Amino acid sequence: AAIRRADYNAPSHFVDTVDLRFELNDDGTIVSSRLQCRASDGEPGADLLLDGNELKLLEISVDGQPLPAARYTVDDQSLRIRDLPAQFELEIRTEIHPQRNTALEGLYKSGGMYCTQCEAEGFRRITYFPDRPDVMAVYTTTIVADPNSYPVLLSNGNRVDAGHLDDGRHWVRWHDPFPKPSYLFALVAGDLACHQDRFVTASGRDVLLQIFVEHHNTGKTDHAMAALKSAMAWDERTHGLEYDLDRYMIVAVDDFNMGAMENKGLNVFNTVCVLADPETSTDRDFETVEAVIAHEYFHNWTGNRVTCRDWFQLSLKEGLTVFREHQFCADQGSAEVKRIGEVRTLRAAQFPEDAGPLAHPVRPDSYIDISNFYTATVYNKGSEVIRMYHSLLGAEGYYRGMQLYFKRHDGQAVTCDDFLAAMADANDRDLTQFSRWYSQAGTPVLEVQDDYDATAQRYTLTVRQSCPATPGQAEKLPFHLPLVMGLLDQGGRSMALHLADSAASDAPLERLLEITSHEQQFVFEQVSERPVPSLLRGFSAPVRLRYDYTDQQLALLAAHDADGFTRWEAGQQLATKLMLAALGRAEPPAHVANEHLLSALDGVLRRASEDPAFAAEALTLPSEAYIADQLAEVDVEAIHRVREACIRDIIAELGSDLETIYRENRGTDQAMDGASMGRRALACTALGLLARGDDVEDLLRDHYRNAANMTDRLCALGLLAHTDNDAAAAALADFHDRWRNDDLVVNKWFQVQAMSLREDTPELIAQLMEHPDFSLTNPNRVRSLIGAFAQGNPLRFHRPDGAGYRLLADTVLQLNAINPQVAARMLLPLTRWQRQIPSAREGMRRELERIGNAHKLSKDVFEVVSKGLQA
Ligand code: ARG
Ligand code: ZN
Repeated sequence: AAIRRADYNAPSHFVDTVDLRFELNDDGTIVSSRLQCRASDGEPGADLLLDGNELKLLEISVDGQPLPAARYTVDDQSLRIRDLPAQFELEIRTEIHPQRNTALEGLYKSGGMYCTQCEAEGFRRITYFPDRPDVMAVYTTTIVADPNSYPVLLSNGNRVDAGHLDDGRHWVRWHDPFPKPSYLFALVAGDLACHQDRFVTASGRDVLLQIFVEHHNTGKTDHAMAALKSAMAWDERTHGLEYDLDRYMIVAVDDFNMGAMENKGLNVFNTVCVLADPETSTDRDFETVEAVIAHEYFHNWTGNRVTCRDWFQLSLKEGLTVFREHQFCADQGSAEVKRIGEVRTLRAAQFPEDAGPLAHPVRPDSYIDISNFYTATVYNKGSEVIRMYHSLLGAEGYYRGMQLYFKRHDGQAVTCDDFLAAMADANDRDLTQFSRWYSQAGTPVLEVQDDYDATAQRYTLTVRQSCPATPGQAEKLPFHLPLVMGLLDQGGRSMALHLADSAASDAPLERLLEITSHEQQFVFEQVSERPVPSLLRGFSAPVRLRYDYTDQQLALLAAHDADGFTRWEAGQQLATKLMLAALGRAEPPAHVANEHLLSALDGVLRRASEDPAFAAEALTLPSEAYIADQLAEVDVEAIHRVREACIRDIIAELGSDLETIYRENRGTDQAMDGASMGRRALACTALGLLARGDDVEDLLRDHYRNAANMTDRLCALGLLAHTDNDAAAAALADFHDRWRNDDLVVNKWFQVQAMSLREDTPELIAQLMEHPDFSLTNPNRVRSLIGAFAQGNPLRFHRPDGAGYRLLADTVLQLNAINPQVAARMLLPLTRWQRQIPSAREGMRRELERIGNAHKLSKDVFEVVSKGLQA
């Protein structure tokens, strides 16, 4: 049954305080809770409905009296209590079994430790509670456990007391003074090492910073600690937001469904998102850790201090926090390169979602299982929506809006409308039309045409917007969006922009055009020659832009535009255009690249030393998935052939320059500064292109052998692993041998094999699933092998005999019983059958139907399968 946003009802009762006591025993955990409750209307009589899942109710009493059976009803989802006074104390004892909890929601065991994940609806697996974010309470938590196995006992807030029991167990009590929803509750118990530091806030609060890890992971938290401190300083500097408790704790766990969780004062992190060292982590891993540490820290204000009224508002905290994370990361290094990465992610993950059967607005209208809505739309498109406020209101206006938002809503559970109202009111702007970004799904298309009148020296841009239909939304109204643009003359210089109706003295080199209608015209005067339009600079709105550029114009933009994102984008568009043209021809052409693309890439190579990280991005051809996303009918093998042909053309023309760039930038050290990372990215990109040519085995083998860091080593291993030969086998064996005891590196070993272009990859994956290091209960392993294959290896996932589809469906069916959240997520690639060629479509649908017909489907998997089967 679907839950609808329109059906929202305020809670019948509030809970002011929660007193929890956990007794962690190997044969089961006893949870005692004492809640101070009051009816929200102040009247006696209303039923209290508590959520509960997988719980055994042991005792229940109201105001100290055991509750007679006639006054309550329990089923497998809830506990309903009747005839209650207006105010009362409710005590409940439940028994739970963390060691059997493979869903990793609620309280579970990971390795030797206990930990929790309560967002979105995990708290109901711990005790009966109104498990909804608009019920906010002050928590006190006491944890009792064996001191040998669990010397460290943690929960939210400040540590207030501790002691020993006569039976030898010890206990610790925590108190969190900030009222919070149950989804921010956390508990950790284990034998953990602690990396400690301090941070003094702007107002002088001395904060203890602690990162807890299992002992074998000590020494890998320096980067996370440094990132945490810079995030804390950044939020003070840019937003005036300070941390509010005496300590900030982070715990690393091996088994985790997502990346990390912002529990108040006690973040729980997937080890992937917190551990880093140059020997075992790639440069990418370092960036991930910095970004996720910052993201979870920023949630303390955008998420915790101001939280969501209901789960339809998820983007209120996630979109906003992703945007804050992006702002932070842009300030740490090259903002342009970071922006390119964000757009790549949006196009790879969100555009296909918005174009597929699971498309939903940033603020969804209904869901069956909320876990399925932790999506690229809610997170990444949500972040783009916040970025557009920033563009439309200007940085100052945006911060005025943020201040008003905190002033109005600190301590409250609110909605996306409340956020929009704060932005509008602080700036005296009407954002009614802008709110369509929250309610309408689908990626808008901007079609731009131009006209140059040489006699009048007038240049006119016509912008038309439209948005394709999405499930449940046939017609769309126009969006309000910022189109940042400039004009280049034939020499690539920026031209002054005299808009027809603005003051003559007002002629900037860049303008933000506000798009609000289906069709608009913008007239520029005093334009002395036909310009080349530079459109959507910085990717100022999450749209598909269409303008019929010539190859020459794209090459000019790629070489000269004032905006780095646009320079990159122009090169990508040129390559895309050529590959699409080749795909459109009846006979595959001998050559895909032409002189314009080759000279643009030549220019990139010549300027590579100015900004190696940017050059690496510019030398990377659009992915096969991106090409597929441009097509009405997708033939994965044809796309692969054309892209390979394009790369061979590049090698034929620029091979020796690529080799030079490779040799000049190849490093043999572990330096982790931005410049070294940029050069590594460039060398690896060049090597990746060269590897598609002939006789490269020695080059790759040498790169692997000489690697002094994980970035270089993994790059070479991944390229070697595409071929079935002795060199590849030797490198894979060596890699596993060296790092068999490091789980995060073993994940990479699975991943490179899952991404292999070898034809027999589906069979190899089936074999790897039997490997002693593989396990379906560890989400990182599943993502490394199954996720990487289904999402990152389109050529072999879509192998014409359907082996990839069968493998995925078999795995999803097994996972369904183990971990429904991960099962539903792994399943997503099978739902993207609509635009595949008929044979693939049929194979994918057949497997989806097979899953749909299975018994005992979890809510999570059921929702994805049933929506995925709708055409
Ligand atoms: N709020 C977390 C974040 O920082 C995500 C946690 C979601 N967890 C889940 N099981 N759905 O993005
Ligand atoms: Zn988040």
